[in-house]
Amino acid sequence: MKGVILAGGKGTRLAPLTKVTSKQLLHVYDRPLIFYPLEILLKAGIKEVCFVVAPDHAGDFLAYLGSGKEFGARFTYEIQDEPAGLAQGLSLTETFADNEPIAFILGDNIFEDDLSEEIRNFSGTGAKIFAKEVPDPHRFGVVEFDQDMNVISIEEKPQNPKSNYGQPGFYIYDTTVYDKIRTIKPSPRGELEITDLNNIYLKEGKLKAGIIKGRWIDAGTFDSLLEANIFIAKKKQSQASSLQTSILLDQNKDIIRKIADSL
Ligand code: G1P
Repeated sequence: MKGVILAGGKGTRLAPLTKVTSKQLLHVYDRPLIFYPLEILLKAGIKEVCFVVAPDHAGDFLAYLGSGKEFGARFTYEIQDEPAGLAQGLSLTETFADNEPIAFILGDNIFEDDLSEEIRNFSGTGAKIFAKEVPDPHRFGVVEFDQDMNVISIEEKPQNPKSNYGQPGFYIYDTTVYDKIRTIKPSPRGELEITDLNNIYLKEGKLKAGIIKGRWIDAGTFDSLLEANIFIAKKKQSQASSLQTSILLDQNKDIIRKIADSL
């Protein structure tokens, strides 16, 4: 399995912050946003990652991420000239994929869950998308699934959602994905939609869903970027304080044992 991270687009909703760099390089607490989806792939043991980036600030990605050596991986870069859709961005990585399945993740999505098992256990056939219960499903691709996690329907930003499950920016595809993208026509917003791609797998009866249990943040707006910063800051602080507590407990274990014995 190889990994693809999509970091295209102009990030207009985050202007003026995106005037001098890309949305995916804005900071979330102590690291650039793109490090979080990258960590998801690296944790799963993926060693080859392709970043699909917009031309405007392409050099900034190289400056932050480099060859991949620092991360124990190998990084490749592709330029998405126009923001022509998630599926169009993915189509640029066909040579990179070289007939291997792909774990595809959006460069502005933060996941609390460890998705390593999902990546490692992928059957190699069909596609797997994910579903997260949200209060505002009409803002996303909406996924409907049965008890066996087979997808029944998936609709892009419907007015009347058939479920409360939104489609987060993480997908796993088999090697037929590039042939499938070639058959997609641009949507009314002029993009090759990821939902249209997923619907091709659905028609073939090869689309499975997994549940995202922890937090999922699409950090593409000021509010969600702030939410991501607060979430990560709190997580790091609680990790630091629980580490401190365990050090303190360890340093004082003899005293604690004596007190416990005397009770
Ligand atoms: C895209 C997808 C949508 C998905 C969302 C997740 O929407 O088209 O299905 O739920 O990403 O962030 P966009 O952000 O391009 O409008």
